[in-house]
Amino acid sequence: MRRVVSSAPGKIILLGEHAVVYGQPALAVPVQSVRATAEMCEADAGTGLEIHAADLNERFFLKHAPPNAPLGIVTRFVIDKLTLAEPDARLTIRSTIPVAGGMGSGAAVSAAAAQALAAWLGTPLPPADLSALVYEGEKIHHGTPSGIDNTVICFAMPVYFVKGKPPEIFAPKRPFDLLIADTGVRSPTKASVIAVRELWQSDPARYEDIFDHIGQLACDAKKTLEAGDWDRLGVLMNRNQELLRLLGVSSPELEKLIEAALHAGANGAKLSGGGRGGNMIALVARDQVERVRGALIGVGATRVLHSIVE
Ligand code: PMV
Repeated sequence: MRRVVSSAPGKIILLGEHAVVYGQPALAVPVQSVRATAEMCEADAGTGLEIHAADLNERFFLKHAPPNAPLGIVTRFVIDKLTLAEPDARLTIRSTIPVAGGMGSGAAVSAAAAQALAAWLGTPLPPADLSALVYEGEKIHHGTPSGIDNTVICFAMPVYFVKGKPPEIFAPKRPFDLLIADTGVRSPTKASVIAVRELWQSDPARYEDIFDHIGQLACDAKKTLEAGDWDRLGVLMNRNQELLRLLGVSSPELEKLIEAALHAGANGAKLSGGGRGGNMIALVARDQVERVRGALIGVGATRVLHSIVE
């Protein structure tokens, strides 16, 4: 039986979230240890495309897709873009990426599904096209996304991202270790982006100054990563966290994890993504990974992932 499989990694933002929505640069890296995988296989003639995402509890035929179902939207985009007929096939999607934790689960599921379908139709999409297509789906669900999630996930490489510009792929001088710890508090990115927008509208000059400052940190961090200076990268992450606090997107749960990681020897720690819950990241020397992981679990992290970024 014919079969086509495609997969996409999770992602984490290193520096620059929120300010990136206002045109500042941000850095994001793929998290290869968690992935969304999509598999296409043949179905009986006349059935059309059946979509089954077990982990998301979604199962439907494309012709009966619930309005606004991201997988319905993204698969329809692929078929329209390639101007081909809907195939008689089954698209099965699985994901190990935590949902609603700032790890790009929605974008990765869409990217894997869109790429599996495009490959099945004989036209695998280059990363930039795949990213543009996933972005259209993201807009429906997240309001005003900067595009960083779909970009890093579709390129599957570390990216220096500025909204509306082609992404710059960058390579850290050597691999480095991140711990990604979950507060266990689910916090939709959309709400947090709206809250920041309200602050900005209340005092544009003050908040634009903060966004500029965050952008400078992201720019500096790219050079620091390319030079392999992890002590300095940690300092930049900590400064970014101070500014994120001023944007009102930290939370007591995030602060508890950040403090524990720094106390246990992390080089730097900050929230990652929308904030007000979700995940934090800690930059950790390889020989400190277990110690910092233990400290994070000790103060209540509900899950700690170790990711080697290269
Ligand atoms: O929560 P996440 O990881 O999807 O991150 C969103 C990042 C923001 O900068 C807050 C929003 C955006 O669209 O870039």
